[in-house]
Amino acid sequence: MRFLKKLKRVAVLVAQHVTRVVKVIWSFLATQEKADDRKFLWNENRLGDGNILPKAKPFSQIPGPLPIPFFGSQWLYSWIGPYFLDKLHLANEDKYFKYGPIVKEHYLWNFPIVHLYDKNDIETVLKYSSKYPIRPGLEAQIFYRNSRPDRYKSVGLVNVVFSDLVKEALNSDEATGTQSPVLNQILTAEGVDTRDKIVSLIDLVAAGIETTGNATLFLLHNILNNPEIKVRVYEELDRVLPSPEDTITPQLLLELKYLRACIVESLRMTPVAPNVARILEKPFTFQGYHVPAGTLVVCETWVASLQEENYLNAKSFIPERWLDSDKTNRYPFLAVPFGVGRRMCPGKRIAENEMLIITAKLLRAFDISFHKPLEQVYKFLISPKGPINVILRERY
Ligand code: HEM
Repeated sequence: MRFLKKLKRVAVLVAQHVTRVVKVIWSFLATQEKADDRKFLWNENRLGDGNILPKAKPFSQIPGPLPIPFFGSQWLYSWIGPYFLDKLHLANEDKYFKYGPIVKEHYLWNFPIVHLYDKNDIETVLKYSSKYPIRPGLEAQIFYRNSRPDRYKSVGLVNVVFSDLVKEALNSDEATGTQSPVLNQILTAEGVDTRDKIVSLIDLVAAGIETTGNATLFLLHNILNNPEIKVRVYEELDRVLPSPEDTITPQLLLELKYLRACIVESLRMTPVAPNVARILEKPFTFQGYHVPAGTLVVCETWVASLQEENYLNAKSFIPERWLDSDKTNRYPFLAVPFGVGRRMCPGKRIAENEMLIITAKLLRAFDISFHKPLEQVYKFLISPKGPINVILRERY
């Protein structure tokens, strides 16, 4: 009897302690949220724009997973959480289903990030016509480049200075049908510091290899796993390039309209960059919530592109939706695998042409089948999970 009484007293004491600890954590979290509001109000004032909409709900009330002190919502990706970092794209999809079209989560040190899933909100962010839209950079890369002024004059200028050169080079290519002098054009550009030329070449190569390779693998997989589409692609290739020895010219590439539509559809369904990030330069109201200037927002274009309200049969691979005869499904700011505006991918045209040429050459020569379906894994960008086994059978 006495033992039971003691046990009861211990249980009550434990319950009281647990309640106290929970209360402390909750009040800490509440303060953190309020601190978010204050921190970002300060940022807005610093950026000289304080037009907060009076009716908008405060930033702190944006729904999202529960953050804990210091670690934010990183616990979601640990052994106790439901998500995996190599499946971040699926985690972001799940957050949409759980919390709705706007989600706030806190990364390490409770740094807030807002995910946007609504096509109108995404359009608002991406359409904002800033001269130099800010996108979070790779911190380590920025740090290194800033610390080596002997090698780097800036942290990377590729878009600001060179995208026009890349465009010019590609246009002259298409007009003359000659080999691309893109890299030469950059190296010989007048009035540009050699360090800027080098850093731009490094960025172009680093950003261009895995992205294009992975996108091409997903493209091949999407075509070959859909028998009717595969037939249409082969028909087009056999018509435009009747002999496997035919040289692929820029003019012939323009005629591969169905294969081009396959590329757009493949990048909608299986993109390598599933979202586009921006740091807001002015405050906005999204879904009735105030989102202050300085906030990092991630436009979840891939998740939005897979919603039925945005594309009919959104989860099916239908290249026909991108053919000229059917423009009804297009949203210019949703299927944006290369980003938009001044920060958009300067390698877009190179990548599209590379994908066309590689796919055309491969399918012209081989009948290919994948050993098993490609699985998407997140490694900063989305890649197919390896090893990838394919069977190649010569067509001729
Ligand atoms: C299928 C292939 C590719 C995809 C899906 C892709 C996608 C992207 C995306 C989404 C961005 C960010 C755009 C934004 O924030 O608005 C980007 C930036 C960039 N891409 Fe690509 N890219 C591809 C191929 C390439 C190639 C071939 C090159 C170079 C030849 C390249 C060079 C770059 C560079 C340098 C940036 C950074 C631009 C900046 O910081 O302003 N990319 N890319």
